[in-house]
Amino acid sequence: MIYVSRKEHFNAAHKLANPNWSKEKNEQVFGPCANENWHGHNFELIVTVKGIPDPETGFVIDLKKLSVLIREHVIEKVDHKNLNVDVDFMKGKMASTETLAMEIWKILSKRIENASTTAELHCIKLYETPRNFVEYYGE
Ligand code: NI
Repeated sequence: MIYVSRKEHFNAAHKLANPNWSKEKNEQVFGPCANENWHGHNFELIVTVKGIPDPETGFVIDLKKLSVLIREHVIEKVDHKNLNVDVDFMKGKMASTETLAMEIWKILSKRIENASTTAELHCIKLYETPRNFVEYYGE
């Protein structure tokens, strides 16, 4: 089994605010991330796929194809967008990095399996800042 990764970049705005809570409680729990007028991050998305290399190509997955899948189905929907209001798959959800990583998994896992004979999605790693990141393994 070998693990192959592709890194993509996007920037997006969001705020963390639970609509069922008061302004004060949101500020208390989320701090500056609750700022009503939004703030932005430069996200790094690392998609890791695992599989056995195809003997004819030596590839687990064609990274060009993986890059196109990620860009078409994820990056184009979130880049330069507001995660709370512009992004269909985030509607009605908390715009946290955790939620975003789980939604990206849902979008990509079947598409990756269909794009390769052996590859399956292994991990979505999403950096919100250089120091804060989440990993999701589909569990
Ligand atoms: Ni934030």
